[in-house]
Amino acid sequence: MDGVRRLISLADRRRGFMKSVAVLPGVENSVHLVETPKPSVEEIDGGRGVLVKVLRVGVDGTDKEINAAEYGAAPDGFQFLIIGHEGFGVVEEVGPAVRSLKKGDFVVATVRRPGTSVYDLIGTNDMTTDDTYFERGINLRHGYLAEYYVDDEEFIVKVPEGLKEVGVLLEPTTVVEKGIAQAYEIQRRLRVWKPGKAAVLGAGTIGLLATLVLRLKGLEVITFGLEKGPYLNSELIEALGATYESTKEISVVEAAEKLGGFDLVFEATGFSPIVFDAMQALAKNGVLVLSSVTGGDRTVEVPADRINLDFVLGNKVMVGTVNANREYFEMGVKDLSQASLQFPGWLERLLTHPVKGLENYEELFKNLTNGIDVVKVFCEVA
Ligand code: BGC
Ligand code: ZN
Repeated sequence: MDGVRRLISLADRRRGFMKSVAVLPGVENSVHLVETPKPSVEEIDGGRGVLVKVLRVGVDGTDKEINAAEYGAAPDGFQFLIIGHEGFGVVEEVGPAVRSLKKGDFVVATVRRPGTSVYDLIGTNDMTTDDTYFERGINLRHGYLAEYYVDDEEFIVKVPEGLKEVGVLLEPTTVVEKGIAQAYEIQRRLRVWKPGKAAVLGAGTIGLLATLVLRLKGLEVITFGLEKGPYLNSELIEALGATYESTKEISVVEAAEKLGGFDLVFEATGFSPIVFDAMQALAKNGVLVLSSVTGGDRTVEVPADRINLDFVLGNKVMVGTVNANREYFEMGVKDLSQASLQFPGWLERLLTHPVKGLENYEELFKNLTNGIDVVKVFCEVA
């Protein structure tokens, strides 16, 4: 045992150490810096290791919940969890079997790693039915808010150099891509489905990106936020040719009564009671996509008979969506590319709050406390 430990530490010393931002899961507000051995491509089997130098990492509500000790777990054998799941970096070294990537490529890694269900076995970890799941930077696996990380080639997606300024937006984009792709997949039941009008509930990062992806598909989009416009997010929505509405002025149900129901509704507010409004705002044959991870235990009274009747008589669907697999990262790369041509400069405007250096993790979290005009908070690691 001692011999093994000594061998590891000699190897670690040769490779050197790196800084990371970590939390102690279960301990509130425990975010801190840690020093850990720099990872190496040899940690990954079959020569498929890819060592990535981290350039930028975005943070979101999930990181906030993890630091509030409401969510997240450390990997086996560790007391701390290195956070960060919205990474963007550059390949520094590849193992001998790696074919799709080379040193200097810009990349983003997926978040969830395989479990044991049949869905994991066929490579669709985002659809796992396991109770425990493994997510880098979130649950049982270290994340990307570090100087380096290493992973299997299978989980690393190449980003074209032309997107390097906005590559940090890829992971949140994939959450939207999966939800919308699932909606379209479900709607194949209709043989012919020509969605005209969509509603996006929530004007935060996910709501903005959902508005973008639906506009790229040519839908007419109304995005609902809390604040009265104009402010940054409402301007960003209008720059896409979508309409912004404040729920202080009109609810999604009232909008549906006035304009007709929505063929697709994407819910991204984090406020679960609005789901029942969204159900009432759907058009016949419509599809409602739910993406908010709501950790609380809120209850609410709803017109159950009416909602149920309209769902039954209108052949409506509601689907939950979480995480995203490699295919949605690839879709995200395409949509971000199209967005940068169709709406030049728009994605850059989402990068509102850069924080320089891992050591400024406190500022990173301070910026996350929802103010108006905050879209994406991210760390410039290198
Ligand atoms: C991440 C997803 C993850 C989900 C639940 C989100 O913030 O972007 O990848 O599956 O949290 O942990
Ligand atoms: Zn996230």
